[in-house]
Amino acid sequence: MEFKKIIVDLLSDAITELSAHDIEEMIEIPSNTEMGDYAFPCFRLAKVFRKAPNMIANEIGEKMGESAYISNIKVVGAYVNFYVNKEKYVEKVLSAGSNEICKKMEDGIGKTIVLDYSSPNIAKPFHIGHLRTTIIGNALYKIFEQLGYTCVGINHLGDWGTQFGKLIVAYNKWGSKEEIEKHGIHELIKIYVKFHEEAEKEPSLNDEARAWFTKMENGHDEALALWQWFKEISMKEFKRVYKMLDIEFDSYAGESFYNDKMEPVIASLEDKGLIEVSEGAKIVTLEDENMPPCLITKKDGSTLYATRDITAAIYRKETYDFEKCVYVTAFDQNLHFAQWFKVIEKMGFKWADKLVHVPYGLVSMESGKLSSRKGQIIYLEELLNESIDKTRQIIEAKNPDLENKEEVAKAVGIGAIVFNDLYNNRIKDVVFSWDKVLNFEGETGPYVQYTYARASSVLRKAEDIEISDDVDYTRLTDDLTFQVIKTIQRFPDVIRLAAEKLEPSFISRYVVDLSQAFNSFYHNNKIIVEDEALRDARLMVVKCVKDVIETALGLIGVKAPEKM
Ligand code: ARG
Repeated sequence: MEFKKIIVDLLSDAITELSAHDIEEMIEIPSNTEMGDYAFPCFRLAKVFRKAPNMIANEIGEKMGESAYISNIKVVGAYVNFYVNKEKYVEKVLSAGSNEICKKMEDGIGKTIVLDYSSPNIAKPFHIGHLRTTIIGNALYKIFEQLGYTCVGINHLGDWGTQFGKLIVAYNKWGSKEEIEKHGIHELIKIYVKFHEEAEKEPSLNDEARAWFTKMENGHDEALALWQWFKEISMKEFKRVYKMLDIEFDSYAGESFYNDKMEPVIASLEDKGLIEVSEGAKIVTLEDENMPPCLITKKDGSTLYATRDITAAIYRKETYDFEKCVYVTAFDQNLHFAQWFKVIEKMGFKWADKLVHVPYGLVSMESGKLSSRKGQIIYLEELLNESIDKTRQIIEAKNPDLENKEEVAKAVGIGAIVFNDLYNNRIKDVVFSWDKVLNFEGETGPYVQYTYARASSVLRKAEDIEISDDVDYTRLTDDLTFQVIKTIQRFPDVIRLAAEKLEPSFISRYVVDLSQAFNSFYHNNKIIVEDEALRDARLMVVKCVKDVIETALGLIGVKAPEKM
């Protein structure tokens, strides 16, 4: 199926100085098809061959062998351009069909990828900032899974720390069991916010909070019972949101899970001579790495975020023997990860280079457009519900007779938010604007879903048609159709690239490209025509596009309703 490989093979025979992998990386797909279907630029070879790029291109051009799948090879300037044999190409792609393109790949067989994502902090709001780690992490999970890896999704809950001491004090002073049971996390946050306000005026509250946290660390029953309860209340809300997003985790081992696992790790750091004591705190200096020291314990002996991450990584390596352990957080944690990754390396763990931080940019709201009754914090659940409401209104206006309106509103409303989040490179900041998110014509989730529904509708109309097995592929070589087929063909490579760069946006952009190509094809070609051979051939294209869109959307966690 993999067409690029044919080009790589041809080039490999001619250029012995480069590996097939390097050649593959250099191959481009010209935006203007007059320049060929694939192009090999020679600029970067100037250094290797000590010759002008044009000359190199000429020489490579002369050495080029032949392939039944390539109809022409032309050298233009510093490029070697390849024109595929369209009939062969179409036949190769479509005869394999969507099953071949959409099936799980074998790249990752026998290897495990651990993904640490979402990981909200208990008793703190699950807000728009946590949306990105949840959505990006879930997409990476699906992408690696498609490549055949075994994935382990871990929700490293922030379920331990001084915030619980504060919450216990706040609860004892101003809390009400009934209110918390009724309003859940909202009520917890209310008293947590009140704690901070009051502590401004009465700093001794902070001492009280610290004392409660120490009790927790010492296994005090009452303290732990409250902690457990706060955790359950928060988890209920998180799980509701995960359900809306259709996201599951393989493990909820959060920070507290490592309470009894840190001691041996600290001892090992001491044994290895990595610990220094500074003002009573234990630290690992990273001066040689130009980084501030990594804090292991505070002077009162309590452990830190990094201590738990170091312990968790060792635990995960032992438990899952991962090929990669990926952490998805906002970029403001770059230093934290760089520091403790170094500590792992200094401990002599060879797998330190298998730890990967995947940072992302921030989300900001287009001012005034988002209503939040609670002030600063925009709750994820409210955001998702607002999107569903708005989508319901759009459907009501556009297609009031639609069946399953509610289900579709959910799939489109939530899909729109997810898609918007994944459309740009993850490191870019996202500005959230409803006009953009829910635009049915832009490069959006609804646009892609609408294209999917259109393809489904064509196939429904053709339900009774028995498509002949013997498709005449020569009928599909016009420019618009060919563009669709070329785009279909790219899918496996796009998945690989998305995994390599840990960048789900490659999938989102791809599925927009495919939708656009399909829509041009659709607007210019009648599909159910009299000419049966043509009709069958075109129906095959539609079927293939439909399946690829569904699979691609699935990889980024977006549903594909059949009608909308
Ligand atoms: N709970 C942290 C936060 O909300 C994110 C945890 C990320 N995962 C990790 N292993 N450090 O900022």
